[in-house]
Amino acid sequence: MKYALIGCGRISPNNIQAAINNGLEVVALCDIVPSQMDDKIKLFNLPNTVRKYTNHKEMLANEKLDIVAISTPSGSHAEIALDCIDANCNLIIEKPIALSIEDAEKIIEKAAQKNLKVCACHQNRFNKAIQKIHSAVVEKRFGKMFHGTAHVRWNRGKNYYDQADWRGTWSQDGGALMNQCIHNIDILRWMMGDEIEEVFAYTDNLTHDFIEAEDLGIALIKFKNSSYGIIEGTTNIYP
Ligand SMILES: NC(=O)c1ccc[n+]([C@@H]2O[C@H](COP(=O)([O-])OP(=O)(O)OC[C@H]3O[C@@H](n4cnc5c(N)ncnc54)[C@H](O)[C@@H]3O)[C@@H](O)[C@H]2O)c1
Repeated sequence: MKYALIGCGRISPNNIQAAINNGLEVVALCDIVPSQMDDKIKLFNLPNTVRKYTNHKEMLANEKLDIVAISTPSGSHAEIALDCIDANCNLIIEKPIALSIEDAEKIIEKAAQKNLKVCACHQNRFNKAIQKIHSAVVEKRFGKMFHGTAHVRWNRGKNYYDQADWRGTWSQDGGALMNQCIHNIDILRWMMGDEIEEVFAYTDNLTHDFIEAEDLGIALIKFKNSSYGIIEGTTNIYP
């Protein structure tokens, strides 16, 4: 299957490695910064037939692709994903799939209409330990799950946020819950086995006055199956 990657930054080697491991043919790369593509071609010793694009629309117009992976800054995922679906490509989208429910639903609906597959990179679901626990939950080995918690107590200092302009912004990053805590939030919802009915939450920015978005989020969740969840996520913790 013909594969292309849009966004060749820090996480992109994981995407390229996964494509290679799964026998996909890497036919094109796209990044607004050409050196990012050159670095990855060198890193993986990709053939010189791999075509490079600085505009994803141009790539979609020129290439016949089966699967496209998107690993651009989070705020651009939705627009690029919708363009890829228009071009009949199946998608692997880095987390978060989009920065709003509305955009995420648009992607899911449009892909379903075209019978295309879309997956978000929630790779932790494939961890052996997580899979074993999830099977045990589904088999009801723990009985009914009354409540579950997700704690993300991370440290992300100025150096981290300075790595790229989009980090810590509302429009491109989405904040600590959307960026750093999303895997644990996803696992919590998956383990609790139902959709969310109600949420009460606080977010705040306590120690990162150089970013726009929150560095702390605390939420209480009621699931449709009457179980409860607690989320605590922050980039404020000093080790
Ligand atoms: N699954 C995970 O655990 C995980 C881990 C890290 C990052 N991510 C996600 O991956 C995405 C990228 O993160 P990163 O750390 O690699 O960021 P990064 O800033 O290192 O890389 C982003 C790349 O996208 C390029 N880019 C920006 N706009 C573009 C556009 N319109 N078209 C093509 N290329 C464009 C940039 O030039 C850059 O090379 C984010 O959404 C992030 O949340 C996921």
